[in-house]
Amino acid sequence: MTEEIAVIPGDGIGREVVPAAVGVLDAVGDFDFVEADAGDHVKDEAGEALPQETYDLAASADATLFGAAGETAADVILPLRGAVESFVNVRPAKAYPGVDALRPETDLVFLRENTEGVYAGHEDRLTDEVSTLTRVVTESASRRLARFACEFVRTSDEHDALAVAHKANVMRETDGRFREAVLSVAAERGVEADEVLMDAFATRVCLDPTQFGVVVCPNLAGDVLSDLAAGLVGGLGLLPSANIGPERALFEPVHGTAPDIAGEGVANPSATILSAAMLLDHLGHDEEAAAVHEAVERTLADGPRTPDLGGDETTADVTEAVISRLDD
Ligand code: NAI
Ligand code: MG
Repeated sequence: MTEEIAVIPGDGIGREVVPAAVGVLDAVGDFDFVEADAGDHVKDEAGEALPQETYDLAASADATLFGAAGETAADVILPLRGAVESFVNVRPAKAYPGVDALRPETDLVFLRENTEGVYAGHEDRLTDEVSTLTRVVTESASRRLARFACEFVRTSDEHDALAVAHKANVMRETDGRFREAVLSVAAERGVEADEVLMDAFATRVCLDPTQFGVVVCPNLAGDVLSDLAAGLVGGLGLLPSANIGPERALFEPVHGTAPDIAGEGVANPSATILSAAMLLDHLGHDEEAAAVHEAVERTLADGPRTPDLGGDETTADVTEAVISRLDD
């Protein structure tokens, strides 16, 4: 049976890098691509950023490939992650040979809690003076993420170090629960797990990223620390991600709509093509996933390169080069 892939480019460079990644998927497999709309431009035209049919498509497709949304990002991506019931956002941050990286030895995977924390949305304006935010951390979500993390390091060929980043010395109740859940699930499963205060992590990972491998983070910390890691490996154009749920999953680059370069045809498609490789892997197409990964790696090493990596070539040039290297 042909698998159905929901394709949601969104706004800005999403409309450039998602078609690039679809071209790569099309070159390695036989998929039924169904495109749907979301984002700022949809809100401007139709009043809501995420049409019901787009949500329904993500909730029913075998997998979803998403680009980025602009100002409406929270209105689009948070419900879409909900549509696939995603509880973890897997964000690898790896430096590739040939890319001018601040820390070329970086090879990290962030496992970001994807349903709660401070992104659960409980914000209030109490008075003209005071606004508040309620942070939600549940035992079940923390333990589910911890089980995923243990399985991730157990089955990974590349990573065996697991650490939980937290700030339980200050947020004793919420991060205390998160920390305890991860460490106790790891202990139950015989997986060695370390812990690190997230502010100390920010410094230590810059000084020596090889101290870490797989890092389990609360939602906001995972968002911020993975962007920090993007800075270590050569920029946001390189970081893919997978939002994994029990049945379905949604794949997207970590970056946003990049309004400063949108429409110029020079966005780096690597993050989205690597997200497509994660999609292939998730659907069980291991060989194809590896081929795409290798083709991206070779292209990063030998060019062509987009301007963010110091080159002067286009999204289309890079995409063509990746596709041409798939069969090598
Ligand atoms: P951004 O990730 O869009 O851009 C940050 C910087 O990185 C810019 O200089 C941009 O040119 C560069 N960059 C990002 N991706 C690139 C690529 N593939 N190739 C080359 N350069 C790349 O983040 P920013 O500027 O903070 O946000 C812009 C818009 O994107 C905002 O409206 C924000 O709400 C939205 N956003 C959406 C996200 C989503 O839909 N998941 C995630 C992050 C931001
Ligand atoms: Mg972010």
